[in-house]
Amino acid sequence: MWVSPFCFSASHELAMVFNPSIQYKAGRLKIDDVDIESLVNEIGTPLYIYSLKRLTANYQRVRDAFSPLNARLHFSVKANGNLDVLRVLRRAGAGFDCVSAGEIFRALKAGARGRDIVFAGVGKTRDEIRYAIQNGIGWINVENIGELAYINSIAAEFDSNNARVALRLNPEVTATTHPYMATGHGAAKFGLTANVIQELLSSQERYPRIKFSGIHMHIGSQLGDTKATLAALDKLIALVKPWPQITTINLGGGLPVAYRFDEPSPSLATLADELAPRLKGYSLLLEPGRSIVADAGLLVAEVLYVKRQADQVFAIIDASMAELMRPALYDAHHEVVPLRKAEADTVTMQIVGPVCESADVLARDRQLPPLHPGDKVALMTAGAYGMTMASNYNARPRPAELVVAEDGLSWRVSRRRETWADLLMAETSIR
Ligand code: LLP
Repeated sequence: MWVSPFCFSASHELAMVFNPSIQYKAGRLKIDDVDIESLVNEIGTPLYIYSLKRLTANYQRVRDAFSPLNARLHFSVKANGNLDVLRVLRRAGAGFDCVSAGEIFRALKAGARGRDIVFAGVGKTRDEIRYAIQNGIGWINVENIGELAYINSIAAEFDSNNARVALRLNPEVTATTHPYMATGHGAAKFGLTANVIQELLSSQERYPRIKFSGIHMHIGSQLGDTKATLAALDKLIALVKPWPQITTINLGGGLPVAYRFDEPSPSLATLADELAPRLKGYSLLLEPGRSIVADAGLLVAEVLYVKRQADQVFAIIDASMAELMRPALYDAHHEVVPLRKAEADTVTMQIVGPVCESADVLARDRQLPPLHPGDKVALMTAGAYGMTMASNYNARPRPAELVVAEDGLSWRVSRRRETWADLLMAETSIR
């Protein structure tokens, strides 16, 4: 059920604009035309909110940038698996990149067809491969020799000769990004080395049920420049050139986004221009996640306490590393802004969560107007790898997710807040 507000601010005062969907209007933070504080007063915190308008605009922006290359986009479900998000992207024409049977299940529930899904993963189980083949999955990205034998025998069970496989190359190129997000260097667990791929391509008859028709590569996420991508792509093309049956190149995800106010938005056109001459004659697949959903979402939290200690000001909020793990895991930067724009002088603050871990710091040394218990703040650019990486650590129920529709006005709770009872749901000894 969609809820439409009875009235909304018609003010167009643009005090501070994060993107066309998230900005202050008359001193209050809005997501499209919806006042975030009013939403939060009704639904509570912590709360993930996504703008479906921004989501679609991002999808179209990425699609348009790569349309000269005829790229097919498979949204990476690991970035955001919310069913409303997936449905909107499916309607816009996206396929999906899934890394588990659970993600395939989600994508199918959102209305995707099996053939619009690519199934990747460094450790797929036999049951997962069976589920994928049973559902007529479009592509399986393979990164272990042992997987091929499973795929071949499961395809035989279903009397299928069409299991399309893209071998994943580890190009032995180090991407400019956080070390935890770099996947293409030689020491990483991901992909197959060029010599293994060469051997596999020369012995395809061992796998009669499999069509080796693609090659896959993903050198990392939030890629800092295009150099490593191009170097890796050159290696990839040199590898597959002698094999005319390799007609599809899947370059994975990794398109970066700006997490800081003062950071320029990375240009997709430059990358597309650099890729174009190299990709002539190949079909192109991409698996973007972050670039489509990150800045369409935010996480709203309430300030519980403010404490001064050891010459620092700690604002303790009701969101933590359990709800948004990126700062603890990658030292990732998310801007924090109050829902009401204040003109007061700023103070340096540590924004921390209630979890019993020293790593539970959501934002360090931020200049913010003084905060008080009850104030609400938004953690920005949290649409990607926010809710999907949330956990129940410290027995914290996961937050609700709310979507604002493409009309910019109506909204609905897309996933309700978990309850204490949900935390025990799978336990077999509840009394
Ligand atoms: N394809 C493959 C094979 C991947 O491993 C990934 C991300 C993607 C596509 C999507 O990449 P994107 O376009 O979103 O950069 N949890 C982290 C990032 C790790 C991503 C892992 N793989 C984060 O919070 O930043």
